Amino acid sequence: MSRMLIVLVSYLLVGVGVSAMNFYNDVDLTWGGDKAKIMENGSLLVLILDKGSGSGFQSKAEYLFGRIDIKIKVVPGNSAGTVTAYYLSSQGSTHDEIDFEFLGNVSGEPYTLHTNVFSQGQGNREQQFCLWFDPRLDFHTYSVIWNPQAIIFYVDGTPIREFKNQEDKGVPYPKNQPMRLYSSLWDAEDWATRGGLVKTDWSQAPFTASYRAFAADACLFSNGKSSCTDDNRPSGRWWDQSLDSIGMKKLKWVKDNYMIYDYCQDSKRFPQGFPPECSY
Ligand SMILES: *[C@@H]1O[C@H](CO)[C@@H](O)[C@H](O)[C@H]1NC(C)=O
Ligand SMILES: *[C@@H]1O[C@H](CO)[C@@H](O)[C@H](O)[C@H]1NC(C)=O
Repeated sequence: MSRMLIVLVSYLLVGVGVSAMNFYNDVDLTWGGDKAKIMENGSLLVLILDKGSGSGFQSKAEYLFGRIDIKIKVVPGNSAGTVTAYYLSSQGSTHDEIDFEFLGNVSGEPYTLHTNVFSQGQGNREQQFCLWFDPRLDFHTYSVIWNPQAIIFYVDGTPIREFKNQEDKGVPYPKNQPMRLYSSLWDAEDWATRGGLVKTDWSQAPFTASYRAFAADACLFSNGKSSCTDDNRPSGRWWDQSLDSIGMKKLKWVKDNYMIYDYCQDSKRFPQGFPPECSY
């Protein structure tokens, strides 16, 4: 009986395209030589930053819409100046990009989670948050849902940001260029600490960020084609997910309590008026 259940459950999982992923099979270590390491039989990946260099990896697959989840434990302790970046990006000068960047801080002070959305090469859509937990202490799940209607950023299942498709207002929306997942750990002391106020303390090096449970329930893109077609729609709920009223309430809770910067409220930056998507 239990064996039948297991078979059934694995069948269902394969059906929606979520298989247990393994870092050996699903990512390439692309930067930093042996400073990027896969361990524990493919279930753990660590990135290291020292004075010599940072490190990084990228997904083998390219996606054109999907739901991407990964658990990250960011650099612990005095991590000021370090940035752990996790993003989806296409290639080229008119690329699309969906960014999570964790800006380290001195011990005891909160990390900043910096987010951005680029469409067709244009970004400048920063929102920043502090979190309701210390992301240094444990693994937490950071997710992106990207479908034709919206991009939603989640932290442990709580939506923190929604970027809606507003092409009807002339705002370009990422929908034609396949993206890969990228992640890197790098030194950004001149940028990440309020314009270089605090320098990276190299006596604390090496700095380490850790990753587990990468999952992509996504339309795979290869040889110029998407695995999702009109006849073969993804069955995952993410395909037509946008925030419902419960999601909107959670998003408001995050905005009211944890948002520390929103480009749509930075009037100094946009003296000629806010970008069109801000009026939503
Ligand atoms: C490692 O993974 C392989 C296949 O993914 C499996 O056959 C093997 O039993 C695993 N080993 C350990 C120690 O978990
Ligand atoms: C570090 O913590 C201080 C004090 O809470 C805060 O003002 C600053 O924005 C934080 N820096 C980063 C990069 O998050």
